[in-house]
Amino acid sequence: MISKYTYGEPFNTEATVKFVEPSFSGIKYLKFSGNEFVLDLLENDIVYGLGEQIRGINKRGWKYVNWNYDNPHHHEDTNSLYGSHNFLIVRSSNLFGVFFDYPGKITFDIGYTDRSKMIIHPATTDLDVYLIDGTSEKDIVKQFRELIGMSYVPPMWAFGYGQSRWGYKNEDDVRTVALKYEEAGIPLDSIYLDIDYMERYKDFTVNLDRFRDMKGLATEMKAKGVHLVPIIDAGVKIEPGYDVYEEGVRKGYFCKNEAGEDFVGAVWPGKVHFPDFLTPEARAWFGSKYEVLTSLGIDGFWNDMNEPAIFYSEDLLEDAINKIGELNNGNMGIDEFFAMTDMIGGLNGNEAYYDKFYHCIDGKMVKHSDVHNLYGFNMTRSANEALNLIEPDRRTLFFSRSSYIGAHRYGGIWQGDNKSWWSHILQAMQQLPALNMAGFMFVGADTGGFGCDTTEDLMLRWLQYSMFTPLFRNHSCNGTRFQELYQFKTVEAMKNMIDIRYRLIPYLYSEFLKATFGNEMMFRPIGFDYPDDRDALNVDDQLFLGNELMIAPIYKQNANGRYVYLPEEMMLVRMNSANEICTEIMPKGHHYIDVSLYELVFFIRSGKSIPMCDAASHTSELDFDTITMVGYGSSRYVLYKDDGISSDLSKTLEKIEYKN
Ligand code: GLC
Repeated sequence: MISKYTYGEPFNTEATVKFVEPSFSGIKYLKFSGNEFVLDLLENDIVYGLGEQIRGINKRGWKYVNWNYDNPHHHEDTNSLYGSHNFLIVRSSNLFGVFFDYPGKITFDIGYTDRSKMIIHPATTDLDVYLIDGTSEKDIVKQFRELIGMSYVPPMWAFGYGQSRWGYKNEDDVRTVALKYEEAGIPLDSIYLDIDYMERYKDFTVNLDRFRDMKGLATEMKAKGVHLVPIIDAGVKIEPGYDVYEEGVRKGYFCKNEAGEDFVGAVWPGKVHFPDFLTPEARAWFGSKYEVLTSLGIDGFWNDMNEPAIFYSEDLLEDAINKIGELNNGNMGIDEFFAMTDMIGGLNGNEAYYDKFYHCIDGKMVKHSDVHNLYGFNMTRSANEALNLIEPDRRTLFFSRSSYIGAHRYGGIWQGDNKSWWSHILQAMQQLPALNMAGFMFVGADTGGFGCDTTEDLMLRWLQYSMFTPLFRNHSCNGTRFQELYQFKTVEAMKNMIDIRYRLIPYLYSEFLKATFGNEMMFRPIGFDYPDDRDALNVDDQLFLGNELMIAPIYKQNANGRYVYLPEEMMLVRMNSANEICTEIMPKGHHYIDVSLYELVFFIRSGKSIPMCDAASHTSELDFDTITMVGYGSSRYVLYKDDGISSDLSKTLEKIEYKN
């Protein structure tokens, strides 16, 4: 049962799609003090959720600030990341879900100030709060997901492996990647184009010196089974003669400053204007520009810098430069020196920028900071709505860096800029169930790590984790060690992992569809299926995947195995290559399992089995009809499959039963 409580005058975020009658009684379970919501917590209560946030599956013990923020250096001490997903499930004397539908800054102090209290503090008290009672966490998630609407389904090729790097500068770089993968016999479905394909970082342009014939390249790649996926950034470069800029100015589609002029921020292209994605007109206009690229044969996009990230604004930069002049008195003392470095460091993403521009909604100026967390959501929506008009019959791949609940209906997300750190494998995994709770199903992290230099063992372990996530993309930052799989000595072992991923695609795609259609989670904490098992509730580095699997990746360097907890008897599956499958039944309980660097281990749940097809070089070559079942004898599995591309999801959907 869902109850809705309205405070003040909430902004219509469009996060929800179902009408809920507002309740006029006081809110249940939480205490509302006038500007914050408080819940008393007992020692063993658990708080799940918050989507893309740091720390564990149980969110207790930290202060989280939901304010979409470009933070490529995030770690345990961070408070804000790229997305804001204000949904929680509390397992206390009452079991309930709660969604704070609030698009501005909102703080979740979950036992940080006082271990026994959860305090939720929105910047203003204009919000809707939805409170969901249910019989289990899974039941609550289902009700919530029905409230927020069905999640986005990408084309099936998006489940293939993708290679990306900020730094592929021209057609030859792209061709080299495709060729080297082909030579190494490693399956590949997509190559990503980062900002270098553009002309001076201008959206919807192609640098013709470096990409002479994008259409030809896209066709050539597609013939090899590889899709090109270009990046689109939120900011539009200010450059006289650039049609997107001039048209946006002429038609009034950019966010305004207080004086009513187009607001200026700076991102990759230098000075930019930001499209007012919160208005239907600007959304339709910006979205229509994707046709520049779809007409060249492009069928996938990643939307970036859409928190929106702002490196500097003209006035703060000028202030900083003047201040440095003042501080630089010929013999700069330590205080002045640190005042200078703090000031320079504080320019990127400074919160002051977000109070200085406005959206024009139904004739009213709305300050950006009041609706900040909706910006990336509406950029993805702009692309999705436009592509539905441009390519009504086929699905297009979209994923975004920034998001808010509601964006899950329009695209997937990648989990932002991470690092080649072991802790970031675990962090990525711990976000998965919370993202699924909030509707984000097509998700994945930059495999191998974006920032910093990766290592061969980190890459192998990361592959062994990411091979289970719907989005499976290797991406790295300019200037870091190259991490395309063919760069490593253990390329054969890496190829084995990608081959295994392709063998698993029928299962992964089928479970993705089942969870999406059924408003369920594809990735669940172990405690969701075993709420009465204290050990299961404590597990935060293993997940159930669909109805049949449990994954328990290795995320520590030099580990030759790990501890796992099996809440039931399970079948351990060990794969050294696509064709070597060893299985062993293990009893319920705690175990230490050996896992060499070169092998994949996962578990099949008691009495279940999964379908596997043969590996192939591209998803287009996968044969979903030649299925091998792996798992317990006399079990059955219902495989969901479709043509992988039609927009009408029911048109080609088939449900086929396999027996083991
Ligand atoms: C941002 C993105 C990253 C991309 C880079 C350059 O940092 O998050 O993925 O490579 O910008 O476009």
